[in-house]
Amino acid sequence: MTKNTTKKIMATLFALLIAFLFTSLLSEPPLTFAASGVPANAEGRKLFMQYCATCHGSDARGDGPSARTLKKAPADLTKIEKVDGKFPTVKVQRIISGDDMLESHGSRDMPIWGTVLRRNYGPGFATLQIYNLTRYLESIQQ
Ligand code: HEC
Repeated sequence: MTKNTTKKIMATLFALLIAFLFTSLLSEPPLTFAASGVPANAEGRKLFMQYCATCHGSDARGDGPSARTLKKAPADLTKIEKVDGKFPTVKVQRIISGDDMLESHGSRDMPIWGTVLRRNYGPGFATLQIYNLTRYLESIQQ
């Protein structure tokens, strides 16, 4: 094999790799739009069902099966208070991760999801999953 052929093969392989990366990005499930006009985040919804619905309910209105066992009722997540008329993305991300403790700095009824997600997905991917959850919540605002 000449040096040139090797170069060509390498270039082809590289192009295939790029094409593959692009198609995997594009093959995300099609976006649907929820009432709020924000695209629904499919991964976020899946995570919500897995981690949050037990307390917040599958429709996120705060009436999941575990809600009764808590001292404090889980929030209705379809009505998150806006800040300056906008969905408070960063605040919600921090509430989910546990960087912002709710109420007092003492105990909180909601688990610290940052720790759980980092354990399950690793630190980088946990941040992405918190983002997905937040986008999902944004999409279901009433
Ligand atoms: C063990 C029950 C429980 C689970 C599971 C749970 N939460 Fe909560 N969550 C609560 C409670 C209770 C509150 C009310 C605030 C408090 O704890 O003082 C709350 C509050 C919140 C708030 C603040 C809402 C507001 O308007 O300020 C957000 C956002 C939230 N939860 C998101 C989530 C997400 C996302 C998940 C899943 C990753 C989740 N919660 C899982 C119990 C839970």
